[in-house]
Amino acid sequence: MDSIVVTGGTPLKGKIPIAGAKNACLTLMPATLLTEEPLTLMNAPRLSDIGTMTLLLQSLGAEVQSLQDGRVIAMASHGPVNTLAEYDIVRKMRASNLVLGPLLAREGHATVSLPGGCAIGARPMDIHITALEAMGAEIELKDGYLHAKASGGLKGAKVPLRFASVGATENILMAATLAKGTTVIENAAREPEIVDLAACLTKMGAHIDGAGTSTIIIEGVDRLGGATHPVVVDRIELGTYMLAPAICGGEVECIGGRVDLIKSFVAKLDEAGISVEETKDGLKVARKNGRVSAVNVRTEPFPGFPTDLQAQMMALLCTAEGVSVLEETIFENRFMHAPELLRMGADIDISGGTATVTGVERLKGAPVMATDLRASVSLILAGLAAEGETVVSRVYHLDRGYEHVEEKLGAVGAKIERVSS
Ligand code: EPZ
Repeated sequence: MDSIVVTGGTPLKGKIPIAGAKNACLTLMPATLLTEEPLTLMNAPRLSDIGTMTLLLQSLGAEVQSLQDGRVIAMASHGPVNTLAEYDIVRKMRASNLVLGPLLAREGHATVSLPGGCAIGARPMDIHITALEAMGAEIELKDGYLHAKASGGLKGAKVPLRFASVGATENILMAATLAKGTTVIENAAREPEIVDLAACLTKMGAHIDGAGTSTIIIEGVDRLGGATHPVVVDRIELGTYMLAPAICGGEVECIGGRVDLIKSFVAKLDEAGISVEETKDGLKVARKNGRVSAVNVRTEPFPGFPTDLQAQMMALLCTAEGVSVLEETIFENRFMHAPELLRMGADIDISGGTATVTGVERLKGAPVMATDLRASVSLILAGLAAEGETVVSRVYHLDRGYEHVEEKLGAVGAKIERVSS
């Protein structure tokens, strides 16, 4: 298992290219099941999760080719597809559940393993199930699998979501494109990845209004065609790398960065004393002056502060002047990075979904362990600021969501290397 070794204290300088969004690509890829025509994604990120989705779609009979060193994903699902999504693939990645809606829409039945819990929470699927049942699907949970069928096809329906679930919104949006009649998703998730999915589905011939708002209206059509679509830039990778100069000084330009994707995050950086300047190529980030200031953060569905940037923000606030309070409202167990940061000398008090962080002058490098994707990168960020050497183990978590993190940070002067063990 690889580890990443970071030696802290070096201010950063230079440019970091931001890749296509993992969480957009993972919902765009299953859309290939909605048509027999070719669907090609450009600007795809090179991540292990994309590889897992590739294997899953291939197991369902889709052709999936990775071209141009992984930047292009060419797909087509011609004949009838296999509708069984096996546990041993699905358990590796929750996003595998995004084949449920497309399979139901395409074949009228699907057997999809429940993903099972993961480090950050139980990750149930009740919102997906309730919504698809409202569209006429019959879904039974047996032996850890969802057995779903919609004889006669899915029907358009009014679908109020009890919570603005990203994955449920995506599953329903894809299923509704081929349903008979009109579907109205109420309290829909508004994330940019959903706007990107709707844009791609529209290119394929779907009739969708309101993507990016809380109410999405989809007029079902008989069939969808193919498309070529560029994956939207990754706002979470963007926010992560914006925090690098914030935590250890210097100035970094994130190429491809867009403020509109991370407005609430940028507002918090500004409050903490970090400047963000829009350039013709992206976003330039630097500390306004000296030490950052403590700020309070509460994670919320988009356009609120993203839960996927909470761990990274906590790393910054561990070195801020003052006391910060972070509330995690989306997942029930998303503070696993805290005990590892404590090993580096941070002062964090956890009570339920609230973390109180008292900033310290300097963190100290230490051996730490990654537990989930975003927690692992928060430890890398902490290592950039810490005195001495930090060794982050189990970096396979990192590789799920960050392309060659040591190369991107090394290119702007960080003392960082990957060590195979
Ligand atoms: C997506 O997960 C993202 N993953 C997550 O990113 C992200 O943290 C999350 O949205 C929230 O923004 C992908 O897009 C592949 P949800 P998803 O359904 O769709 C509960 C990362 O680091 N819930 O909005 O699974 C659920 O347990 C990953 O890139 C139900 O209770 O998120 C959670 O507490 C991590 N029942 C909350 O809602 C359901 O049926 C948010 O879940 C569905 C969800």
